[in-house]
Amino acid sequence: MNVKEFCDNYYVERTGTDSLKWDALDTRYGNPDLISMWVADMEFKTPECVRNALEKRVKHGVYGYSFIPDSYYQAVINWEEKHHGYHLDKDWIRVTPGVVSALYWMVNMYTQKDDSVIIMTPVYYPFHNCVTDNNRTLVTYDMEYDKGIFTIDFDAFEKKIIDNNVKMYIMCSPHNPAGRVWKEEELEKMLEICQRHNVLVISDEIHQDLVFEGHKHIPAATVANGKYTNNLITAFASSKTFNLATCLTSTIVIENEELRNTWDEFTKIYNQVEVNLFGITAVEAALEGGEEWYNDIKKVIYSNYQLLVEGLKEFPKVYISPLEGTYLVFIDLRNHVSLDQIKEFTQNHCNLAVDYGEWFGASWKGFIRLNMGTHPNIVKKAMENIKENLLKITK
Ligand SMILES: Cc1ncc(COP(=O)(O)O)c(C=O)c1O
Repeated sequence: MNVKEFCDNYYVERTGTDSLKWDALDTRYGNPDLISMWVADMEFKTPECVRNALEKRVKHGVYGYSFIPDSYYQAVINWEEKHHGYHLDKDWIRVTPGVVSALYWMVNMYTQKDDSVIIMTPVYYPFHNCVTDNNRTLVTYDMEYDKGIFTIDFDAFEKKIIDNNVKMYIMCSPHNPAGRVWKEEELEKMLEICQRHNVLVISDEIHQDLVFEGHKHIPAATVANGKYTNNLITAFASSKTFNLATCLTSTIVIENEELRNTWDEFTKIYNQVEVNLFGITAVEAALEGGEEWYNDIKKVIYSNYQLLVEGLKEFPKVYISPLEGTYLVFIDLRNHVSLDQIKEFTQNHCNLAVDYGEWFGASWKGFIRLNMGTHPNIVKKAMENIKENLLKITK
């Protein structure tokens, strides 16, 4: 399907459906009428195969305790092998109600109170919270930044690890909100530094499937033929890819037996829940039958990004970070809007609900993050509002 056909078929108005993105605007932003481009989910229905599978379970009418069938594991294994060349063993897989929950657990199970945990900022705000909420010491390494482009100074990253006696690194790959898809040499340098200093790496790869032309997601576990897997745990899900966030079903891959034992002991105490039948049903159906939808959604996201870039190109000093992966675009407005005016500009003038740069790290005030997983008309309206108000300032 082309973008228009896809949107005609799958776009849905979400207002009035208890949607966090659309129905919580008043509580979150103090204005229910903003154009919502913040939280990371999409305005598109999931593939037919997912809805059919869910309908079948709903019609069955019994929602008693279930277990995870082999076919579910096989669907996850097949997808990883086919799309990312990562061969998973069923024994390594653990299923959790979301990646963020798993991050919170892992900070608890693999570090002690006051231990240092490093994150690479700007980065997804629950990475900050899962460290501080658990009374660990948050260490941030601010990436190098130049006119929209994010890179890593590996010496500076390593120095932070040494100086703070860091025990864990929570990595975001692909990176939200920088939009970077890490190259193999970048991953290897990070993994090598962490191994040298005994830092456990948690690789959050939830955006693994949403990667665009010219870029390839490389699972951290496959770097250098699996050289770093003893010191690594990978987390991913189908929730971003297929818009299934509320199905609360994610995958954690732990290759190292000792780390797996620690996980199992911890979850025995803190996660005595059975599996979510609907999550398992939805994810398995998506992975098995959602390929065409998946290829189409990537076209929609990328053309939305191009629409935004094209529409704002008359402002060469508004830096839009290149979208290598994810559907989240980070925009640097600092050359046009003073830091204390960013919220006023974005909400009151442009009528937009966005994620603000400082949510991702203190140094990143003046940036906004826009979600491209939506109808092109919404992106167009957002772009026009930004343009119109930038012109007013620039005059
Ligand atoms: C890097 C990253 N990890 C995790 C999540 C959310 O994961 P979950 O909904 O499975 O908790 C997001 C959502 O935007 C994300 O960007």
